[in-house]
Amino acid sequence: MPDYLELFKTNSCGKQNFDYLCTLKMQFATLLKPKKITDGLAQSEGCVEPFFLTKAPKMKPEIYATIIGSGSYLPTKHVPNSNFLERTFLESNGASINRPNEEIIRKFQQITGIDERRYVEDEYVCSDIAFFAAEKAIADAGIDKETLDYIIVAHNFGDVKSGATHSDLVPALASRVKHKLAIENPFTVAYDLPFGCPGWLQAVIQANYYIKSGDAKKILVIGSETLSRVSDPHDRDSMIYSDGAGAVVLSATESETPVGILAHVTRTDTIEQAYLLKMDRSFNPEDKENLYLKMNGRKLYEYALKTVPSAIKMAIDKSGIPIQQIERILIHQANEKMDEAIVTRLYELYGYAQRPEFSMPMTISWLGNNSVATLPILFDLISHRKLENYNLNSGEYFAFASVGAGMHVNALVYKLP
Ligand SMILES: CC(C)(COP(=O)(O)OP(=O)(O)OC[C@H]1O[C@@H](n2cnc3c(N)ncnc32)[C@H](O)[C@@H]1OP(=O)(O)O)[C@@H](O)C(=O)NCCC(=O)NCCS
Repeated sequence: MPDYLELFKTNSCGKQNFDYLCTLKMQFATLLKPKKITDGLAQSEGCVEPFFLTKAPKMKPEIYATIIGSGSYLPTKHVPNSNFLERTFLESNGASINRPNEEIIRKFQQITGIDERRYVEDEYVCSDIAFFAAEKAIADAGIDKETLDYIIVAHNFGDVKSGATHSDLVPALASRVKHKLAIENPFTVAYDLPFGCPGWLQAVIQANYYIKSGDAKKILVIGSETLSRVSDPHDRDSMIYSDGAGAVVLSATESETPVGILAHVTRTDTIEQAYLLKMDRSFNPEDKENLYLKMNGRKLYEYALKTVPSAIKMAIDKSGIPIQQIERILIHQANEKMDEAIVTRLYELYGYAQRPEFSMPMTISWLGNNSVATLPILFDLISHRKLENYNLNSGEYFAFASVGAGMHVNALVYKLP
């Protein structure tokens, strides 16, 4: 018989093994004094069946955060690349770009993989489309909206009306969404999270902390963005940007085995990277009033390639799940080639020359880069079987990852319940 008491004393195992060994110690001690047993398991001396030899250990249930519903809103205005044929694109110093638009657009398509994007309808703002996605997520989860403990809305520019030159952030977009949802419960706490493109994933990480603490049971996490309202029409990089909204409902789930959010990692780099994405003047020198979203695309690309694969690896390693078991990598989409390079590098870090087919579902060719909305939209499309070749199966492992203004990078490993 193994020396369970000795094993217990040394206690080099994890917490659950420790609990199990505590039980064994008690049982073993009982065996030594069978006459004192009063629970009916050992009725007479000499016929005691040690239950650690016959019964599997019962793990203590823990609380995990799982996604129980999702929804998204894809604006109806389709904007194909051909819409930019008449555009006046300028260099950053205001000079004309000395090549025809056909060539600029062809090059743009080659570099990014984007053929088309969606722009929000004139009558809507960011909080409207956040509400549309939220309504669908709540219906999909089948919950009473009054039971929500938190509503967190990730976005970066607030509500910018069509043709407006300023952003409106008061009240917070989360309050506006709660108002539109007509939630009366004062303890449904609503707030915004400005965290660049990784904002939605970071809000999911925050929700996980609330749920694991035992203080919250249901949380609505929304990513909504209208980048078309902050794009410089004279900057060809603006062709990357698009609009959309996605939402999920996270719920506290008790389970004896790990499920839902298993591990996550976030980093923020600011010394040289803080202003790789920032608000700045138009490339058109005549527009002296407004600020637009500007990026140093090349430096961003290099930063993402250097940091995102290792962040995903850190999260996977932290979860203890082998890379071979990660079925899908849902990654923020700003540039198709960049994402392919990131995921290929991730597999290289594990010694693989290639990534598995279908490991990375993509929407960028027809949805462009809608920032915080990309990941929840992607998850929603897959979970409702709206993306060819992709679906969700119970027990599968996913990794989520995003990179953006801050600069922030985050990654998360998730097991489908
Ligand atoms: C912006 C980006 C598309 C530019 O691509 P790039 O390959 O780095 O561009 P470079 O500046 O090295 O220029 C390469 C060529 O593409 C052209 N080019 C650059 N940006 C372009 C654009 N937006 N559209 C069309 N052509 C472009 C250049 O003129 C150059 O052409 P040439 O080879 O004929 O001289 C790319 O860097 C990128 O997608 N970066 C990451 C963006 C990102 O992650 N953003 C995060 C937002 S959350």
